Amino acid sequence: MASEPPPSLRTGSWFRSVVFYEIPVRSFFDSNGDGIGDLPGVTAKLDYLGRLGVGAIWLLPFYVSPWRDEGYDISDHYAIHPKLGTVDDFDRLVEEAHRRGIRVLGDYVANHVSTDHPWFQEARRDRSSPYRAWFLWSDTGTEFSRVRVIFRDEETSNWSWDEVAGQYYFHRFFASQADLNYDAPAVRAEMIRYARFWLGRGLDGFRCDAVPYLFKREGTRSQSLPEVHQFFREVRAMMDREFPGTVLVAEANQSVPETIPYFGEGREFQMVMHFPLMPNLFLALGEEDPRRIVHVLRATLPAPGGTSWAYFLRNHDEVTGEHLSEDEREMMLWLYGRDPRAVLNHGLRRRLAPMLDGDDDRVEMMTALLLGLPGAPYLYYGDEIGMGDRLDLPDRDGVRTPMQWSEGPTAGFSTASPDRLVRPIVSDPRFAPSVRSVAGEEGRDGSLLERVRALLSVRNERAETFSSPLYDALELPGSPVFGFVRPGPAEHILCLYNLSRSEVEVQARLPAWSAPHPTELLGHERRLTVTEGALRGRLPPYGFAWVGFPRVPDPPPP
Ligand code: NOJ
Repeated sequence: MASEPPPSLRTGSWFRSVVFYEIPVRSFFDSNGDGIGDLPGVTAKLDYLGRLGVGAIWLLPFYVSPWRDEGYDISDHYAIHPKLGTVDDFDRLVEEAHRRGIRVLGDYVANHVSTDHPWFQEARRDRSSPYRAWFLWSDTGTEFSRVRVIFRDEETSNWSWDEVAGQYYFHRFFASQADLNYDAPAVRAEMIRYARFWLGRGLDGFRCDAVPYLFKREGTRSQSLPEVHQFFREVRAMMDREFPGTVLVAEANQSVPETIPYFGEGREFQMVMHFPLMPNLFLALGEEDPRRIVHVLRATLPAPGGTSWAYFLRNHDEVTGEHLSEDEREMMLWLYGRDPRAVLNHGLRRRLAPMLDGDDDRVEMMTALLLGLPGAPYLYYGDEIGMGDRLDLPDRDGVRTPMQWSEGPTAGFSTASPDRLVRPIVSDPRFAPSVRSVAGEEGRDGSLLERVRALLSVRNERAETFSSPLYDALELPGSPVFGFVRPGPAEHILCLYNLSRSEVEVQARLPAWSAPHPTELLGHERRLTVTEGALRGRLPPYGFAWVGFPRVPDPPPP
């Protein structure tokens, strides 16, 4: 039975105070020994996630699908893929997560369906079927010529010929994913029904896939059209009415000016994934110069009333280079993509730790940066233990290998034989399970996992300050240190990150609130001193500090 979440989990702007964790279900934990991760496998690992300090999980598509695109090619929106479990398993996962205070987001894939879907199958066979109008057809495949091809390594056109239909059909992504026709009212109604179905089974919200592309208009790029905003306002209104406290997260991989409207003045998405920031974080680190981060944040903060940016370092796709200039993209590939196999579409198919040369100090610092920003941080499974990737696997599979729970040939992911696993385990000796695993790192002093856990624990303890939308950049001219203050109701937190490989001296004037008695929140040995409104100290290579200043009480009114 679907369960009601405890009311405490749905109150206020909960999404601004928790740390999110992304899970490709197939790669997380296999509970039944068939070599494929499943929903009971996620349930079995909720205690681990709770210990890590995660407050919400985002499950990649778990619906019935031929899996030509990791489940983003759905062939039945209302059923769980049999390899991943049953609806009862889903209900149990949601219930157990809620019992531990962990919220659960699903993935809402609205732009397209698998060409195996019965809707498409019927549409292609029968021109008189009502489903024919659910898709976009053409006799020439020349319409919408201004629409860019996204998976340009695989597809050369957004139109593919279908023998059975005797026409071309439109697809934004792989040819195996036919775009739905949102001008058909029945499509819009069905997609709202699909959202309602899973929210009714207890989901706390959705990460919405490929948001900008739902509507197509001749002569335009068919991205972020007003109709797209209107549709998601309807979804949101339904959610506010029927499932208060649930949230929508936009995957709108667009430029800054095109991304901001997805907040819809508080009436569309509560969170919008910050795609333009992500590659800039890596560039700033490589260039040892924080200015580009400061610029992007200046252009995008604050998120409008009550909403929040969703930040991430890595996810299940490539590090996108789409929002970079040609020069910047070249720089990113030079810094992080020297192995040509790492380059895919417009970006890099790499995990966090290999991008940072397996250097725990850099991984920890970048994670601390993510957690310090004003917005919702999203961790990618396995990055907390410094998992690696496999460049020998096709497409983005190399960043979706089985989670490494322990040593051994299947990394504790499954009891199946290694050749039956959904994907092979990472074999690079720097990142293999013998050196990178939960069992090997949990409880071990100084391990990456323990360092990440400590960061989450401080962020959770100080959620009141970290969830505030306030952020003041610190002026540190010419310094490789990125610094800002998070003003909170009871304290201000100063966050400093040394993006360089050298020890640096930090000196800054502090604003009037810089009360005495600051505390280094992470228990690092004292690196910074504060005297008479000035800050002075040293940060080690790739070092960082979070310093809490209790708020000075306001003077009594005269
Ligand atoms: C974005 C998803 O993140 C990606 O993995 C997928 O291939 C496309 N959308 C198409 O659904």
